[in-house]
Parts: sequence; C-alpha cells; structure tokens
Amino acid sequence: MSLAALEHALQLELDALTAEGRAKPAERVIVAYLPPQGDKGPRYKLQGSDQEFIRMNSNSYLSLSNHPELIRAADEATRALGVGPGAVRFIDGTFSYHAALEARVAAFVGKPAAKIFNSAYTANCGLALALSTPKTYWIGDQLNHNSIIRAMRIAGVPSANKAIYRHNDMDDLRKCLTEVPEGMDRVAVIFDGIFSMRGDFAPIDQIAKITSTYQAKFKEGLFTVVDDSHGIGAFGPNGRGTADHTGARPDIIIGTFGKAFGVNGGFIAAGPIVVEAVRQKADTYIYTNPLSVADCAAAGRAIDICDSAEGLERLAHLRRMASRFRRGIESLGWQSIPGPHPIVPLLVRDTPRTHRLVRHLLESSVLAVGLTFPVVPRGDETIRFQINAAHTPADVNYVLKALGPYTT
Ligand SMILES: Cc1ncc(COP(=O)(O)O)c(C=O)c1O
Repeated sequence: MSLAALEHALQLELDALTAEGRAKPAERVIVAYLPPQGDKGPRYKLQGSDQEFIRMNSNSYLSLSNHPELIRAADEATRALGVGPGAVRFIDGTFSYHAALEARVAAFVGKPAAKIFNSAYTANCGLALALSTPKTYWIGDQLNHNSIIRAMRIAGVPSANKAIYRHNDMDDLRKCLTEVPEGMDRVAVIFDGIFSMRGDFAPIDQIAKITSTYQAKFKEGLFTVVDDSHGIGAFGPNGRGTADHTGARPDIIIGTFGKAFGVNGGFIAAGPIVVEAVRQKADTYIYTNPLSVADCAAAGRAIDICDSAEGLERLAHLRRMASRFRRGIESLGWQSIPGPHPIVPLLVRDTPRTHRLVRHLLESSVLAVGLTFPVVPRGDETIRFQINAAHTPADVNYVLKALGPYTT
C-alpha cells in the first residue's frame, strides 16, 4: 500500500490553490506572551524571531486569555475533575462545570436555556441539524460566516429550501420572505450579528419588525437566529452583543467563548424546547467529547468579569481605543467602514498592495491580517485590524505611525 497516487492528486489540487491565489500562507507560530509593561500592552514572540510583536488580529476583544482569574479557575477545575471528560455528554461526560456554564451563558444573553458546543462552528452545524425538516426554509444574509453556509450543507438543506438576501438589505429580506415557496411550514432568518470581515452589524431591530409581519403565514413559525460570535462580550452598552446594541430580542442566539471571552467553545441559547431538540438531534453536540472543565470554568469566569465593573471598564476602554484607531487611519487618508465595533477594516482595494502593506507591518512588529479574494470580493481587499482591551493609546499610536508612510 502506498499514498503515492493520492499524494500526486492532492499536490495538483494544492498547486491549483496556489495558482489561483487561494492558498493560505504558512502559519506563524507564537512562542511567548510578554505581559504589558509601562505604556505598552502585551507583546508576542514568534518562532524564529527576536522581535516583540503587537497583535492587531486577535478576536480576544476583552483581552481575558491571560487574566489571572481565568487561569486560576481553569487550574482549580482541572485539579477537581481532570483534563478531559472521557466521554460524550450523554455517556456520563457531563460534569458540573458544563451544566454551570450552560446556566451562566443563558442568563448572560437573557435566554431560559443553553447548550454548549466545542465551537460556534459546530453550534451552527448542530442548530441546522436539529431544526431542518423537508418543510423548513432558511433565509440568510449574503455575508454570513462560512460556518452557517457549511451548516446548511451538512444538514442537507436543498437549494429549494433556502434563500439569500443582499447584505443588510431589508427590502431584499422582505422579498425573500414574500417568495417563500408554498408548503414551507417553518422559516428561519439567520444572520451574523457582527460581520467578521467588515465589523458592521445586522439591524436586528428592523429584522425583528419585518419578520413579525410574516409570522402568521407559517404553521411552525418564523424565527430569527443570530450568530453573534463577534458581538457577545464585545459589543452593546452591557457587552450583550448586537441585540444589546440594537435593542432587539432575537429568538435564538449562537455565540462563542473563543473571542471576547478569550477561551474556547460555542453555544446555542434559546427556550428549553429548542435547546432540548438540540441536545437530542444535533450530531455535532451528541457524538463528540465536550469542552474540558478547564475551558468551562475559564469561560464562566470570563462572563462574570464581563458582567462586573471591571468588564464595563474594559468595554469602555475597548470602545475608546477602537474609535481612536478608526479616526487615526481615516486621518491618514485610508477608508474604513464606520461603526463602533473593534473590528476596524482598512480598505486597500488591491491585492498586491494589501500583501505589501501586511509585510511592512510585520517588519514593523505588527501582526495584522490581509483579506483578499476569495475571502472578500475583488475590490474589497482589506487589512482587518482588531482592537482589544489590552491595547493602550501608545500601542494605537505605534501602529498608526507604522502605517504612516503608506498613506493613500
Ligand atoms: C460569525 C462567526 N461564527 C462562528 C465563528 C467560529 O467561531 P468558533 O471559533 O467558536 O468556531 C466565527 C469565527 O470566525 C464567526 O465569525
């Protein structure tokens, strides 16, 4: 037996990805975290380099990953119940930390119940598996995250059972709702809360208003699902996410513990019957070991912090730094997308220029990510900067200074 024939075929596929400009670059390896010092926030070291890098591409918006209380919570949980659950949830893999985190996150987002997953990605897949029937129709925003798109495929949703509306276009959403084919009993409108490539948000208040007028048309209801992975913990006056910012109440909330909360894992929050259907029917929940108790304990502690005076102060600082950075890049002549979220895109609109700028930033000890086709449409090539609560005014000034020579 040999893998030679397979490897030859795979190499051709990989070469094609490279030729199309779609291959991911080699992964950089972080080997050290250097705590904040003086007026500087944390720095990171990469394998093979002595430079100390500032991270402008982390989803850890509240900067809690190295918080001593999260580390202590993870450590205590591990000492109490070990490093792994040894089984899936329904075969005695459910530990007190899993149940406690489910109750904690449900209370945080204002829902009666929640189920935790290994990631928001698997939560989206689980939701689609649990709710899809041959008479279920899914309507989604054009810029929804890959995990929602993939979830539809994994759940075997045929093209006749789904529609896409133009990004944040409420007239187009209304049109999709009007055109739901005869015979559909159940309709889900599903969208990202914060769109991760742009940092803009779904107008959930308007979506709720529009959907409510179609509610009575469908035997098994019409409901909204927000995947607020970039919003929960990082957005809204109390860090409750896009619902908090827009003053709306989506029916089902998907989120992650791997971004603002700085840990790992995902969740679905809703009423108890939806959550029980997820527990019974979502394969990505049922047939896989759950998070470690260390992850659960750390995520629970992160929510507690987010809910405290310290959390509110972190959020306020995050907003100030995001606004300082946004104003800064605009005053250098760059275009961004307005809004209060800590994702601050710098629109370069040209692939080679994006690559050059990212390389220049790296040489200046700034880690940032360039987004080019097919991750974003051609012409929307962007450097996605992400501010976090550990960034200081001096850090923001440093990155702006590095960008300085590259004014438009
Ligand atoms: C909208 C959205 N959903 C889901 C995910 C995946 O989150 P996780 O890392 O928890 O799987 C992301 C992260 O990139 C995201 O932006």
